[in-house]
Amino acid sequence: MKTILSVVGARPQFIKAAPVSKALRRNFREVLVHTGQHYDPEMSDIFFRDLELPEPDYHLGVGSGTHAEQTGEIMIRLEKVMAEIKPDAVLVFGDTNSTLAAALVAAKLVLPIAHIEAGLRSFNRRMPEEINRVLTDRVSRFLFCPTQLAVDNLRREGITEGVHLVGDVMFDAAQHFVRLAGRRVDAIRRLGLEPGNYVLATVHRPANTDDPERLASIVEAFASSRCRIVFPIHPRTEQALRKLGLRDKLSRASNVLDLPPLSYLETLQLLRHARCVATDSGGMQKEAYFFGVPCVTLRDETEWVETVEDGWNRLVGADKGRILEAIEDFRPAGPRKNHYGDGHASERIAEILLREL
Ligand code: UD1
Repeated sequence: MKTILSVVGARPQFIKAAPVSKALRRNFREVLVHTGQHYDPEMSDIFFRDLELPEPDYHLGVGSGTHAEQTGEIMIRLEKVMAEIKPDAVLVFGDTNSTLAAALVAAKLVLPIAHIEAGLRSFNRRMPEEINRVLTDRVSRFLFCPTQLAVDNLRREGITEGVHLVGDVMFDAAQHFVRLAGRRVDAIRRLGLEPGNYVLATVHRPANTDDPERLASIVEAFASSRCRIVFPIHPRTEQALRKLGLRDKLSRASNVLDLPPLSYLETLQLLRHARCVATDSGGMQKEAYFFGVPCVTLRDETEWVETVEDGWNRLVGADKGRILEAIEDFRPAGPRKNHYGDGHASERIAEILLREL
């Protein structure tokens, strides 16, 4: 039996790894490595529990730091694990510093790299994630693309070998776990909400959290909206709000329900029943589309262009007026299409690896 070493570290990677790990373990020995990029219980442990992910075989305990510190520390610790395990392939997910660090280590050890969520581009090189994506794709042998657009992006960069259009593993995960959420959690009742009558908001991108004007503008939009805003706050955002003296404004706003980060199951449930989503997260833009919930994206560009083209996602940046207008009035009309596969992307990935390794 061949060995695959999968590397996860941050919230969205736990979600992507869950269906893939399940599919892989039928035919492979999987060694799961957690880099420790996310470490607070509500950013990590709760996800492992909700997602029924196996305990990591290795926990590198890297934690936070500058990009160089985090990436470098992951590389140093991961190299030892890869040298010991000598896997037949290394699996990396998405676009975080954990993704790039793992890809660089594997490339130098001449191990085949499989990149899940290959080919995504925002064409904004100021985003750390964009650098992580472009470089990871460059050194990967298997490029598992979620959408046709991702395949086209790679072709434009001259990457055509090893490219597989498999569908989106987040769609696999959302379909499975939203059913589980219905049985296991009742976030709407716990938080005293009325289905269809609140906005689910999240903010965590450095472009928003590390820019005082943008963050203030977003907070003002939330605090002055007529809508009920449910706002689970990422630790990075919590720190920025306190530093900029914006935290009290949020706490005082009677329409804003500010919360610590929520579990995946609760998030899916709240998202599905929201009147709309206001977010700078990549994953939530798609999840909103999966469930037919309008999405207001607090960014100037997106990797998930299909959701905008179909009229279900509106890019409003951090402009107070545009945010307010969109969260209050945006009612998409057009049909949604099947851009993200059939819910079996993970099985397809496992089959391709089994055939080709
Ligand atoms: C990372 C990813 C981003 C992804 C996001 C999901 C990179 C460059 N970015 O961003 O693509 O969308 O994860 O959440 O890899 N912190 C805690 N506790 C934690 C984790 C973080 O307090 O468990 C705080 C620390 O102060 C840290 C800050 O949040 O400095 C940012 O964490 P970091 O891992 O650097 O990036 P994210 O913003 O989470």
